[in-house]
Amino acid sequence: MRKKIVAGNWKMNKNFEEGMALTSEVVNMVKDEVSHEKVTVILIPPFVHVHPVAALAKGTPVLVGAQNCHQEANGAYTGEISAGMIKSCGATHIILGHSERRMYFGETNALLASKVNTVLSNGLTAIYCCGETLEQRNANKHFEVIESQVKEGLFHLDAEQMKQIVIAYEPVWAIGTGVTASTQQAQEVHAFIRQLLVAKYGKDTAESVCILYGGSVKPDNAAELFSQSDIDGGLIGGAALQSRSFVDIAKAC
Ligand code: PGA
Repeated sequence: MRKKIVAGNWKMNKNFEEGMALTSEVVNMVKDEVSHEKVTVILIPPFVHVHPVAALAKGTPVLVGAQNCHQEANGAYTGEISAGMIKSCGATHIILGHSERRMYFGETNALLASKVNTVLSNGLTAIYCCGETLEQRNANKHFEVIESQVKEGLFHLDAEQMKQIVIAYEPVWAIGTGVTASTQQAQEVHAFIRQLLVAKYGKDTAESVCILYGGSVKPDNAAELFSQSDIDGGLIGGAALQSRSFVDIAKAC
């Protein structure tokens, strides 16, 4: 059985005080209310909060991640942050290829393939995002789009490396819109991604990779989504900005 993951992507939200308050609340609630055998809870704040959030979460089951990194190890890249720096601040996970980064910052599958390498070479786990736009879904191109995102971003890895990857399927039309993919729509794409992994890496590796759903997950739709055989938890945006709703989603696993 794959252990489920519920990861909260704060995006560009929360000042320092607010971020620390949210972290303390989540850490305390998770300790009291969430079964650690069933689910791993990860907080993914903006870069500047990674170290203090990790310090507050230290010694608890809550893990910490970052929302992006640069593809190079270090150097003259003003304003950028490396995977090694993120690791040294106490994080274990890095989101790569979120649709907002693909859309607003022009991140391509090829660039993401090199970011995946730098994350893995630092011994961290990459949460690799994929997902189609509404236009692509309406044109019935969603499987094609997801296949190329997964293959071009990840399929240069060997089977051992693939085990360090978490995939997040996030249909762009469901992110921050309040529209969730139906359970059937989500499970269908998750099963498709799992099949791509089976074809390339074999059943054992494919069965070990967590595939998260993201896009307007809320406490009242989480349990049904997470009950699907290929949905291994969620990448949560809006509902992760509030401790009660985020922890309730973790409890839905
Ligand atoms: P949302 O965001 O839960 O606010 O839709 C999800 C995400 O972008 O990861």
